[in-house]
Amino acid sequence: MTDNTLQQNNKKTWSGRFNEPVSELVERYTASIPFDYRLAEYDIQGSLAHAKMLSIQGIISTIDWQAIEQGLNQIRNEIHGGQFNWQLELEDVHLNIEKRLTHLIGDAGKRLHTARSRNDQVATDIRLFLRASIDEIVDLIRNTQHALVDLAEKHADTVMPGFTHLQVAQPITFGHHLMAYFEMFKRDVARLLDCRKRVNQLPLGAAALAGTSYPIDRHLVAKLLDFEGVCENSLDAVSDRDFAIEFSSCAALIMTHLSRLSEELILWMNPQFAFIELADRFCTGSSIMPQKKNPDVPELVRGKTGRVNGHLVALLTLMKGQPLAYNKDNQEDKEPLFDTVDTLIDTLRIYADMLSGITVKTDAMRQSTLRGHATATDLADYLVKKGIPFRDAHEIVAKTVQFAEKNGCDLSSLPIQALQQFSDRIGADVLAVLTLEGSIQSRNHTGGTAPEQVNIAINKAKQWLQT
Ligand code: ARG
Repeated sequence: MTDNTLQQNNKKTWSGRFNEPVSELVERYTASIPFDYRLAEYDIQGSLAHAKMLSIQGIISTIDWQAIEQGLNQIRNEIHGGQFNWQLELEDVHLNIEKRLTHLIGDAGKRLHTARSRNDQVATDIRLFLRASIDEIVDLIRNTQHALVDLAEKHADTVMPGFTHLQVAQPITFGHHLMAYFEMFKRDVARLLDCRKRVNQLPLGAAALAGTSYPIDRHLVAKLLDFEGVCENSLDAVSDRDFAIEFSSCAALIMTHLSRLSEELILWMNPQFAFIELADRFCTGSSIMPQKKNPDVPELVRGKTGRVNGHLVALLTLMKGQPLAYNKDNQEDKEPLFDTVDTLIDTLRIYADMLSGITVKTDAMRQSTLRGHATATDLADYLVKKGIPFRDAHEIVAKTVQFAEKNGCDLSSLPIQALQQFSDRIGADVLAVLTLEGSIQSRNHTGGTAPEQVNIAINKAKQWLQT
């Protein structure tokens, strides 16, 4: 500890009007430094822009501004070098940095907080942090989408069973199935980029809540920090965290999509399905059952979705009872937000790699599609095209399926004579309709599972990924 630190121990930045110090427990309870230290880089960026504006506006001298800039750069180096001495007594990242600055440069350091409050300062820091996080997350989603498209391209005509109610429904292609997730992630990216616009507004200048009497230039600060605009109401600027809640809901949806895909990977890896094999590096064994290969990574993605969804609820609950303007409740926004960002980033990083390491067992997929009468709808559609009303066709096919069940075979392998018992409209041309390939090829329209359409979707996706 420096001399400066020792001297600070009993005296808080704000304690001028207090007669007794807070207890150690209260100090620990109210401090945010154990977690908000990670806003330091953004806090410094915000302070640099604020100080520059103060000097341009003649609110502080150029000499003070230069000292502040130099001091903050030194502090940045100390933090990056791991030499910065974070102190619980100094409560949060803002006061820790400001105290160190004053220790380094004297009175000029004390002038940095002119026309500013920690209320608009912390709101600015979180927005800068979230903006950077969104950019990183968008890049990572796109990597995952790349991996999906690569895999889909290899399997544009690989047949697998499509499910509803987890029962075999109709034949689809594996490429089509994968591209469904591409679409979900595309919407996730759009949502994040839209949310980014509302994150990217500058609170600084709102000061504690009502603005400031100094001749500040908020637009200049916004420009220096690359904000798209300034928060239009000072009370709103310091108090609302809706942008964080919005981000959190985007994150919950992304995790939910990843969780659904994970659930499928887990099912597909189960030997009862045996559709895929995950690379060993994403699985673990059992300490008792030597044969086991467990899909731990997708299971954890599914599990971690719970905490990200929970953080969304935490933030909403944090906000709902707060009167205007800033309340200390808002300090509680950080841990859920940080954990959301960390969980999402780690999950996405793993995911792209995991997808590219998948081995697809096309034979097992095909065999499975041949169990469950997946082409029953195709037979009904065939009958409709021969002039039978759909409801009657449905009935006829249901009977045919019953017959196939009784004979222990799939609808698609019934001989033509057997089929003709159920309708005299059935001709030799039915066989093409009942095959898996016939079924898939016939769904050849935008959004359908025909390989031609899957390839069109893949090409569109590739173009999208290039933008
Ligand atoms: N550590 C605080 C937070 O995270 C900073 C703002 C404190 N403002 C105040 N008026 N006590 O919200």
